[in-house]
Amino acid sequence: MPEFDLAVRGGTLVTATDTFPADLGIRDGRIAAIGARITDAARTLDASGLLVLPGGIDSHVHIAQASGPGIVMADDFASATRAAAAGGNTCVMPFALQPRGASLREATHAYRALAEGQCHIDVAIHLIVSDPTPAVLGQELPALIAEGYTSFKVFMTYDDLVLNDRQILDVFDLARREGARVMVHAEGYDAIRYMTEKLEKAGETRPFGHALSRPQVVEREAAHRAISHAELVDLPIVIVHVSGEQAMEQIAWGRERGLKIHAETCPQYLTLTADHMKGLGSDDPMEGAKYVCSPPPREAANQAAIWRGIQTGLFDVVSSDHCPFRYDDPAGKLNPKGRTSFRWVPNGIPGIETRLPILFSEGVSAGRISLNRFVELTATNHAKLYGLYPRKGSIGIGFDADLTLWDPNRRETIRQANLHHGADYTPWEGFSVTGWPVTTIARGAIVAENGRVVGPLGHGQVIDRAVSP
Ligand code: URP
Ligand code: ZN
Ligand code: ZN
Ligand code: ZN
Repeated sequence: MPEFDLAVRGGTLVTATDTFPADLGIRDGRIAAIGARITDAARTLDASGLLVLPGGIDSHVHIAQASGPGIVMADDFASATRAAAAGGNTCVMPFALQPRGASLREATHAYRALAEGQCHIDVAIHLIVSDPTPAVLGQELPALIAEGYTSFKVFMTYDDLVLNDRQILDVFDLARREGARVMVHAEGYDAIRYMTEKLEKAGETRPFGHALSRPQVVEREAAHRAISHAELVDLPIVIVHVSGEQAMEQIAWGRERGLKIHAETCPQYLTLTADHMKGLGSDDPMEGAKYVCSPPPREAANQAAIWRGIQTGLFDVVSSDHCPFRYDDPAGKLNPKGRTSFRWVPNGIPGIETRLPILFSEGVSAGRISLNRFVELTATNHAKLYGLYPRKGSIGIGFDADLTLWDPNRRETIRQANLHHGADYTPWEGFSVTGWPVTTIARGAIVAENGRVVGPLGHGQVIDRAVSP
């Protein structure tokens, strides 16, 4: 019997802190040896000329999530994890959503059932609390946290998800007592409603109206409110999908007060702008709907601010916020009501497969961030924030053998035709990148190779987490 199931030989290992040449020996799905010459293996992968990175962890994705009447999300667990694997990821974190008036426990168990046996890579499930009733706060949430659903998201906007300030405080309070991690969608509901109605009255119903309805002040105000509530309750929080310099200022302000405010941003805020929602260059008046997501991408100058936040440590993680809807589809972006106003265009864009190449290319290849910072932003910090560390998120003895063999010099052009998600477009069509995932290894099994997903469906598991002591 060979000592290892798989050896990865001749590559350059990269963690959040170190870069060094070494071979890896993998046994029973875990990293069992790191050394100079590992040869006694049933199978060997040649990684010479390649980087060996911890597999990407995308801690903010939406998969098969209920999305309002007549609207269907474009990915199920099979297609989303297939796309994620092809894009160099080994773990993704979607959300079990509690519909208003329904049981969070039942919604969570039904959602988990959709995932079981249907994943190419591991998933860990966050919750969305939309209705914090006494039963949810008193019994359901504490029980779910104890079962391993240790993180949840609260929304400060969206008709069917928004919590008022008192509800947010109650959920924060419970999270503090139970040791759970809370993510906050910081955009102010009433301000958006006010702007939306005003824009519609003025006849501004194009997809671009979406950007006008949610200017930076809407995000800044909500970020400030969330941070203030976190201070009151004494709870660390994660402000997700931060899009603007003004919300960043609030986060920096909170940290100066000594508060533990974590922050996430996404590739769309580094590479897309509000002008994309004008659909310039197309004679299809709805083209801009392809870029409608919340918060919206901002003006070009704002991108430099987000990069500064990535460089200076203001941001802990870069996630995709993958939230795929088909474009040319009455159950997607082009639903009949969506044609009458931006208000009805489903919010969200696909990005699960393109997050790593875009951040590597614009970050590492363009000289903005180091390789180690890339690993921290795309894997290590996700694992640390959400209770997957030290099982996932780095390369070390005993870690899951979740790895991406990465060619830092390979040039590619992003094309919908080559992607594996269920959406029928990518916002990055024609975007050129330098740096590309060549092979994805999930718990020791090769799941994707050169753009082909080879692993069997069902290799990925649903992972339960424990609260940190
Ligand atoms: O537009 C977006 N981001 N849709 C996904 C849901 C959310 O708020 O993250
Ligand atoms: Zn259960
Ligand atoms: Zn959100
Ligand atoms: Zn999201």
